[in-house]
Amino acid sequence: MPSGMGFPVIRPRRLRKTAQIRALVRETSLNPRDFIYPVFFNEALDAPKPISTMPGVSQLPISAAKELAKDLVRRNIGGTILFGLPKTKDAKGLVGCDPNGPVSRAVQEMKAAAPELVVITDVCVDEYTDHGHCGVLRKRADGEMEVDNDATIEILAKMAIMHAKAGADIIAPSDMMDGRVGKIRGALDESGFSDIAVLSYAVKYASGFYGPFREAADCAPKFGDRAGYQMDPGNAREALREAALDEEEGADMLMVKPALAYLDVIRAVREASNLPLAAYNVSGEYSMLHAAAKAGMIDLDRVMMEVLTSIRRAGADMILTYHALAAAELLGA
Ligand code: PBG
Repeated sequence: MPSGMGFPVIRPRRLRKTAQIRALVRETSLNPRDFIYPVFFNEALDAPKPISTMPGVSQLPISAAKELAKDLVRRNIGGTILFGLPKTKDAKGLVGCDPNGPVSRAVQEMKAAAPELVVITDVCVDEYTDHGHCGVLRKRADGEMEVDNDATIEILAKMAIMHAKAGADIIAPSDMMDGRVGKIRGALDESGFSDIAVLSYAVKYASGFYGPFREAADCAPKFGDRAGYQMDPGNAREALREAALDEEEGADMLMVKPALAYLDVIRAVREASNLPLAAYNVSGEYSMLHAAAKAGMIDLDRVMMEVLTSIRRAGADMILTYHALAAAELLGA
C-alpha cells in the first residue's frame, strides 16, 4: 500500500455512516422477483393441510390454485414450482404422467387465473412411486436393488410433455439421472414444445437438509437412500462436470441444491457457466430457522434476509424458497 494510504486516511466506516449511504454502496440486494415459491398440491385434500415439520407451509387442495396464483402475481414473486401428491402410487411412478394428476390440474388452474405467473413443474417420480425412490427399480447381480437410469428417463420425458401440455412455462427435472436433460429436451422438441425451457437440478447433493420435504411431499424412500444417484457432499469438481453436461444437453438454466451448505458450489458454478443460476433454499434450511426462532435463539426475519442475501451474493440469480412470501412482505412488495 502506498505510504499515507492506510489508516487514518482510509476509513471504510465513512460509507457505513447512514442508512442512505449504506443503501447506496450495497452490492447485493433482494427483490421478490428473485424468489420462486415451492407449492405442494395434494389431490386428496379439500382444505389446506399444515406440514408439521415446516411451520407456515401447507399441502394445498387443487381448489386453492387460482387464488394462490393471483396472490403470487400481486406480491411480484418471480414464479412458483409445483410438486404433486397423488391419491395412488405405483412401482414406476407412472401416475405422475396422468394428465388429470395434481400437477397438471394445478398448472391449468394457475395459468388460467394468472397467465403472467411463471409456473415451473418439478419432474421426478419420487412423489409417485410406492417405494419413494426417484426412479424405476431393478435388481443388480449382487441382489441389491438399484434405480434403473435408462428406464427412468423415459418416464421423466413423458411427465415433462404432460406438464408442458398442461401449460407449464419451465420444466425442472430433480431426479439426478444421467442424460435426462437431453432426453427431456428431445421429447419436448418432438412434441412441439421447443419453446418450453428446462431448469435442470444439475447439482443436487444427497442431503440431510431434505428431511422436512419428505413429509411435505410424502416421498421418503422406503429402503436405502439416494446416494446412488444424488451427489456426495464432499464433491465440488463433480458439480462443475454435472453443470457442464446439463448445459451441453440443452439445459436453459442450472440449479444448485441445497444452498446454504453449498455456497462455495454456487459460486463455482456461477463462474463456470453463463446460464442463469438458481439455488434451492431447501426444506431443512427453512425449518431450522423457524425452530431456532421458536426457541428464542435468533430473530427469524433478520436471519431469513441474511440467508437469502448470502445465496444471491454467492452467485445465484434466483432462489427457490419457502420464505418467499414472508421475505416479499418484508421487502414491502
Ligand atoms: C425430489 C425432490 C426433493 C426435493 C425437491 N425435489 C427431495 C429429495 O431429493 O429427496 C427437496 C426439496 C426440499 O427439501 O425443500 N423430487
